[in-house]
Amino acid sequence: MSESFYEQSSKAPDTLFDLSLRPPAFSEFHGQDKVKERLMLMVEAAQGRGDVLEHILLSGPPGLGKTTLANIIAAAAGTNLHTTSGPQIEKAGDLAGVLTNVQKGDILFIDEIHRLHPAIEEYLYPAMEDFRLDIIIDSGPSARSIQLNLPKFTLVGATTRAGMLTSPLRSRFGLVNRLDYYSREELAVIIQRSAGLLDIDIRPDGATEVASRSRGTPRIANNLLRWVRDFAQVRGNGTIDGDTANAALAMIEIDEDGLDEMDIRILEAVIYKFNGGPVGLSSIAVAVGEDASTLEEVHEPFLIMQGFLKRTPRGRVALPAAYTKIGATPQNKQNELF
Ligand SMILES: Nc1ncnc2c1ncn2[C@@H]1O[C@H](COP(=O)(O)OP(=O)(O)OP(=O)(O)O)[C@@H](O)[C@H]1O
Ligand SMILES: [Mg+2]
Repeated sequence: MSESFYEQSSKAPDTLFDLSLRPPAFSEFHGQDKVKERLMLMVEAAQGRGDVLEHILLSGPPGLGKTTLANIIAAAAGTNLHTTSGPQIEKAGDLAGVLTNVQKGDILFIDEIHRLHPAIEEYLYPAMEDFRLDIIIDSGPSARSIQLNLPKFTLVGATTRAGMLTSPLRSRFGLVNRLDYYSREELAVIIQRSAGLLDIDIRPDGATEVASRSRGTPRIANNLLRWVRDFAQVRGNGTIDGDTANAALAMIEIDEDGLDEMDIRILEAVIYKFNGGPVGLSSIAVAVGEDASTLEEVHEPFLIMQGFLKRTPRGRVALPAAYTKIGATPQNKQNELF
């Protein structure tokens, strides 16, 4: 049950509920201070020069605020935002179609930019660098290339897999902004804000309880908040305090560290099947029956951040906290590593 809850929270497209909670401006976007500071500075500098914003890449696990930031950047810069995604651009003509609608200073947001077709990437390079698009029309002897001059625009790319971006593409972005998981305190503030917008009565201990089980992720925090609200309404007096939140989250089997069933299965596999590691990601994937890229994108970064797993050149290794978590005893072999 908990697994499917997280799967939904981390992958489902944003619902209307989510949209209404999406902070519309930097001032309402809590956390990610370094990234926010840099983006605000870039917007201010571009505005000061009366120039168009540089291209921006946002990377990080699902649900941390990449799409939200793209919207906020456009609002702060006072420009239009055109949204598309890597898999949506299948042909050069699709890219031309999008780019010819863009006006000077507009932002083109390409979500999942690591999933752009390599051939499309080639078209994107001159578009990003020199604001021109060279397209080949027709084929065979009558093939010719036409050049379209584009207005100066800003490309904002978002990716959950910065490592999958080709280096020519990555190097065309001014800087890579990596979003990290939020702290419990930051999430508690975000939960309080969402509760205010949804007219939910929540106590600080209730917000902290929800925050600590949200996998460092605002999208999950908002989804859990919605569940706890329902629970408090039916089983309690409508107010969310620590005890109510606890009972509500226990009912959907959310671990007190926010780990889901798959996270636990990964730790168990590394410890029991692979003797604590080091073990390669693809072997873990086979052992737990999950796609290797989901492990790498969704589960592994969280387990590493929480101090359960470590990446070494020879593979993934379970750390002492992982043994404690699943109630296993570290082997002798483990001691050599620390
Ligand atoms: N810093 C924040 N403060 C408040 N709410 C936030 C913040 N960041 C994200 N959210 C909330 O979390 C939801 C998910 O954020 P968003 O859609 O921007 O994530 P994402 O990084 O684009 O995820 P994906 O990789 O799945 O596309 C938003 O709708 C918003 O309600
Ligand atoms: Mg997004």
